[in-house]
Amino acid sequence: MILVTGANGHLGRQIVEHLALRLGSSAVTRLAVSVRDPAKAHDLAERGIEVRHGDFDRPGTLNRAFAGIERLVLVSTDGPKDSRIAQHHNAIAAAKAAGVKRIVYTSFLDVSPDSPAEFAAAHRATEAELHASGAALAIMRNTLYADYLPMTIGGALESGVFYLSAGGGRASFLSRDEMARATAAAALKEQLEKEIYELTGPATHDYHEVAAGLSRVSGKPIRYQAISENDYTQALEGHGVPAWMARALANMYSAVAAGKFDRVSGDYARLTGHAPPSLAHTIEHLFAR
Ligand SMILES: NC(=O)c1ccc[n+]([C@@H]2O[C@H](COP(=O)([O-])OP(=O)(O)OC[C@H]3O[C@@H](n4cnc5c(N)ncnc54)[C@H](OP(=O)(O)O)[C@@H]3O)[C@@H](O)[C@H]2O)c1
Repeated sequence: MILVTGANGHLGRQIVEHLALRLGSSAVTRLAVSVRDPAKAHDLAERGIEVRHGDFDRPGTLNRAFAGIERLVLVSTDGPKDSRIAQHHNAIAAAKAAGVKRIVYTSFLDVSPDSPAEFAAAHRATEAELHASGAALAIMRNTLYADYLPMTIGGALESGVFYLSAGGGRASFLSRDEMARATAAAALKEQLEKEIYELTGPATHDYHEVAAGLSRVSGKPIRYQAISENDYTQALEGHGVPAWMARALANMYSAVAAGKFDRVSGDYARLTGHAPPSLAHTIEHLFAR
């Protein structure tokens, strides 16, 4: 039995959809999910997928949620660093107690100890716990979600400029759906060839190149302006972003500026059997009207 946590979230739900597609209707009963609010997953239950209640903040819910599960897809939570680390700790402890054999974890491309990104610190702590768990591991180190590009550029299609604390740093982008496709493949694979998969696009780009891509698709001149981490944090807070998230996003872009996302790997193709889309294709898909 395979269980996906966080199936009411965007990524978790898409992982379930890819697993369901690959398993087919006769085998979908091998699939279970755990969510904080089972009522919101009634559509999955109607399709024969077992819906369990599981909340990483309430460890008592997790023993039942993970009972009888062989493969667990552990979708990382959101929230401030320390609460994430504690939530993931509870989930890993429950998986261990339940005898889960394989854990597939949605990590982050940057987990380096000298990273300015607090997301890196949270995922690094969880990866260390996973290594100590004794389960077979497929750690999916995800690059930046392409889905966030529209939010990242804000009103640039109208104003002609967007601001970030990414300096001249380079990154690649994949959509949640693409991450989900590769994650589902890792969950189903008979034999894992390695423990760490880096899910990246085919090439990295700086945000001037992103701006140029947007200009091409929109037909309007758009430019990127680098700003300081502090200024970007304040700008996000000014738009109503919670303080912890504004800080975490700004220091994540500082990690981009520091070159932490300037890496590409063949792991997406290795898992899915096809190459990841180019940035031009992704921008076309997201922004063409
Ligand atoms: N690489 C990137 O660029 C990037 C960007 C954004 C986020 N992320 C990471 O990817 C994850 C999934 O992204 P998303 O877009 O799908 O986020 P989302 O739609 O906001 O979903 C948040 C997820 O966190 C789960 N969660 C929160 N608190 C929980 C708790 N106490 N116990 C169990 N699960 C809990 C939710 O589970 P329920 O289904 O029970 O609600 C849900 O699956 C995020 O949580 C974050 O760790 C990565």
